[in-house]
Amino acid sequence: MKKTGNKTILVIHGPNLHLLGKREPKIYGKFSLDDINKTLKEKAKENKIAIDIMQSNSEGDIVEKITKSKYDMLIINPAAYTHTSVAIRDAILAIGKPAIEVHLSNIFRREEFRKKSLVSDVAIGVITGFGRYSYTLAFDAAISCLNNCK
Ligand code: DQA
Repeated sequence: MKKTGNKTILVIHGPNLHLLGKREPKIYGKFSLDDINKTLKEKAKENKIAIDIMQSNSEGDIVEKITKSKYDMLIINPAAYTHTSVAIRDAILAIGKPAIEVHLSNIFRREEFRKKSLVSDVAIGVITGFGRYSYTLAFDAAISCLNNCK
């Protein structure tokens, strides 16, 4: 078991992700957000890391969470706000904590408007297209980055 000290990972799921399992299952899968969160909580426990998870449909609430919580690393699926939100981008920049952008679908294989992310260039990296495993991969990346990434 890796020792990661008293670190906290904040996970944010953006708008409509509470509908996972019911929402366009051919694109997003049949699993629920609770399934994803359960896996993340198990991984956090294994690695002795505190985890704080929120889902919100509101851009303002997401900005509040990014700027007012205590954490060492952010994993965020901004969902539709990926393509529109200067506010979420600015919040990540303002706080300056390392962020990993996650998408269930491969945003580069979809409609033109999804190919542009306002978050990618302020994140350490982007994981897109692996369904629920995008989050698992992001969590592993976060752990390896906790002590090493800027
Ligand atoms: C998404 C991709 C976005 O374009 C979309 O608006 C979402 C989900 C994904 O995880 O694949 O809501 O972020």
